[in-house]
Amino acid sequence: MAKKNFPLGCFVVCMTIIQFIASISFCASQTLTNEISTSTKAIFIFGDSTVDSGNNNFIDTIPENKADYKPYGQNGFFPQPTGRFSDGRIIVDFIAEYAKLPLIPPFLQPNADYSNGVNFASGGAGVLAETNQGLVIDLQTQLSHFEDVRNLLSEKLGEKKAKEFISESIYFISIGSNDYMGGYLGNPKMQEIYNPEQYVGMVIGNLTQAIQTLYEKGARKFGFLSLSPLGCLPALRALNPEANKGGCFEAASALALAHNNAFSNVLTSLDHFLQGFMYSNSNFYDWLRDRIDNPTKYGFKDGVNACCGSGPYGGMFSCGGRKKVTEFSLCDNGGDHVWWDAFHPTENIHHQFAKALWNGPSSSVGPYNLQTLFSNNQIKLTIADIVDAPENHQDHQFQY
Ligand SMILES: *[C@@H]1O[C@H](CO)[C@@H](O)[C@H](O)[C@H]1NC(C)=O
Repeated sequence: MAKKNFPLGCFVVCMTIIQFIASISFCASQTLTNEISTSTKAIFIFGDSTVDSGNNNFIDTIPENKADYKPYGQNGFFPQPTGRFSDGRIIVDFIAEYAKLPLIPPFLQPNADYSNGVNFASGGAGVLAETNQGLVIDLQTQLSHFEDVRNLLSEKLGEKKAKEFISESIYFISIGSNDYMGGYLGNPKMQEIYNPEQYVGMVIGNLTQAIQTLYEKGARKFGFLSLSPLGCLPALRALNPEANKGGCFEAASALALAHNNAFSNVLTSLDHFLQGFMYSNSNFYDWLRDRIDNPTKYGFKDGVNACCGSGPYGGMFSCGGRKKVTEFSLCDNGGDHVWWDAFHPTENIHHQFAKALWNGPSSSVGPYNLQTLFSNNQIKLTIADIVDAPENHQDHQFQY
């Protein structure tokens, strides 16, 4: 399944792109009026529990979608649980640090200071509105929250400065896992209506639209966290129909791989068509699989079992004792583990991957790494915005 093509998915995506290009081709030249300026001052974050820094603390949802109770955050970096689905920090905290920015606050945190960006992510959220509907802040709503912030910025800075600020900021997006796990594999009705190819096409189609929406609103520089080998999450390893073999649930990983391949094709197309669009995509799939299979090579003792949880592989999502199953155990040192709970990696994994995205090798990140995205406003504004023809624009890029 992993190697299959997805003609229908591609069709949906291609049509979306074509319609979009028709709609923006008249306003592309407006970006020429931007002035050259200094380095990026803000990050806007969209997605699910991989990047939620506490929005779900403020919504009405089930304990599975929250992480504001012990032992979440127990490694001591934060004085108490913050709502991050980890033993400590998450990838966007490290990225902010490398960019010399303060921690990016959750959108819903009262009195949050938005001047270095905002985090809109929500644990459990998917690309599709149907995924965990009513229990999360879905991607569409996250985008409408961004629109609120954009309006605030315009009021505060004035139209022109706000536009500059928006175009220099980084848009970091990490979403999709929940669409495939709960939204599809855990949802027989969806599987009846859509085959895997159709479903991937629908997720990718909606994700592409979200990127296009942000682009229309002035976003130019994007970072993407690709999907991990979902079948190797302790929760899915425990659900593997061939669990007695102790392996990963490969059907789940195959969906993630199909998504990643389709998405990387979409990004190549967007890069070709959207003037000034720059991105950093990651190969989280292979990167994480390597650590799961060879933990000791990377300073881990255990690549398979969750530090916090119960049942086989700690794959029962019981960490904290507030969910359906109240019994759970906790390992001695979360830092030794790839997996913190049944679904989420430890701070150490977040930290190592943030490093790889920041200035890592092209096997992990491309076509640009984040460091380049954060620092090259001059390149973007002098080359990408001034060169008009898409084919010229393509010359100074390389394919990922
Ligand atoms: C977006 O998802 C909805 C289901 O939530 C689907 O009906 C629609 O076709 C998708 N759009 C695209 C462009 O794939």
